Amino acid sequence: MADTKKLYIKTYGCQMNVYDSERMAEAMGGAGYEATDTPGDADMILLNTCHIREKAAEKVYSELGRLKGFKADNPDLKIGVAGCVAQAEGEEIMRRQPAVDLVVGPQSYHRLPEMEAKIQQGEKALDTDFPEEDKFEKLKSRPKAKRGPTAFLTVQEGCDKFCAFCVVPYTRGAEVSRPVDRILTEARDLVERGVREITLLGQNVNAYHGHGSDGDWSLAKLIWELDKVDGLERIRFTTSHPNDMMDDLIEAHGTCSKLMPYLHLPVQSGSDKILKRMNRSHDRDSYLRLVERIRAARPDILLSGDFIVGFPEETEADFQDTMNLIEEVKYGQAFSFKYSSRPGTPAAERALVDDGEATDRLHRLQGLITHQQREIQDSMVGRDVSVLFEKPGRFEGQMMGKSEYLHAVHVMETDAVIGDLRRVRIVESRTNSLAGVMIPD
Ligand code: SAH
Ligand code: SF4
Ligand code: F3S
Repeated sequence: MADTKKLYIKTYGCQMNVYDSERMAEAMGGAGYEATDTPGDADMILLNTCHIREKAAEKVYSELGRLKGFKADNPDLKIGVAGCVAQAEGEEIMRRQPAVDLVVGPQSYHRLPEMEAKIQQGEKALDTDFPEEDKFEKLKSRPKAKRGPTAFLTVQEGCDKFCAFCVVPYTRGAEVSRPVDRILTEARDLVERGVREITLLGQNVNAYHGHGSDGDWSLAKLIWELDKVDGLERIRFTTSHPNDMMDDLIEAHGTCSKLMPYLHLPVQSGSDKILKRMNRSHDRDSYLRLVERIRAARPDILLSGDFIVGFPEETEADFQDTMNLIEEVKYGQAFSFKYSSRPGTPAAERALVDDGEATDRLHRLQGLITHQQREIQDSMVGRDVSVLFEKPGRFEGQMMGKSEYLHAVHVMETDAVIGDLRRVRIVESRTNSLAGVMIPD
């Protein structure tokens, strides 16, 4: 029997890449590879990449430069690039870094085993097709090994929204929803393997409209079906687009006890002028009204957002509109970025805002967000939450888990083990986490 080979995967970018990396490792398992955490031991190194901002893409090339050195020590080592940089730049990657043997896009990685056989013959392999077949149908069913208490599950991919700044519609392709029965089977399978919390993933997850027993299902309907799965305790989903926040989904936040009170709802900007130029197809007011309706259904929901500052033609007044939208909404969590011009997107042609000015705006916005995050965290002190324990903490006897609001909670002197879902009283708010004590059952 041939020796087992070792595969090292490094994942960049969003949660969907985390999920894809798991699926790629499984696909390569069928081709005789087992996963390793040590790149020095690997027979194959795969970078699962992100193209969302220039920095993210450049990181890949500097990492490839470093990995070239590994090839000097181990001439049999194979290097592959997967994910969104692979999709966007294709052959260009091999031109810029000849040490790369394989380039595979996010919609064709079910073909990895065939591609691996090809590169073992000394050839190069490139596949950035958007194939007709569904990669998830082609991938073997998932292995039965025990796993941790939380998991991602991709239900929808791609994006038809074409925000003027964004590469995702080009790197991931058009919106596609996976069929209901495949998702339910995968979810039950995950639960059998120890998973208690599933985060449903999609670039526009709430645009989900997968085929079910009686026509197309909405995300809310899918969530209600998952609610019936015994042993599954928590359901989350990300990322949502404001325009696809349908009534049944808002209502589910108020009535479905397994659906966690946390919602990532990016708005990008608070200025109507900029939202229009971004081609966001919602305005400031419709977003604020939507937030009101969501909070009416679930008053304690924790909202998280994404913001871009320094988008072309953003003035100080536009930026102030973003700041006062943040003041109005009050986010428990937010991700903010300086606009990065991406080749091939409509906004790439437009004049940039002065870089120093954009950096200054980013700092001011992040200051406000940090302040809000901290205020919301501080307001948790004295409250009882449920914590799903995920791993040991840094100190002896300490465990770490997440509350229903996705706050990291550290608990000392606990008998809780990984996978337990227990009540905890919050006693302290720290920079990026909460401290709690167990509440006796
Ligand atoms: N589908 C998700 C976003 C995926 S990208 C959604 O619509 O919310 C994640 C975030 O990266 C975006 O929300 C946006 O804030 C940021 N982003 C995307 N393109 C960017 C660019 N060109 N420059 C800076 N930030 C960008
Ligand atoms: Fe990108 Fe906009 Fe689609 Fe989100 S909705 S993935 S920001 S194009
Ligand atoms: Fe990045 Fe692709 Fe995700 S560009 S954010 S890895 S969809």
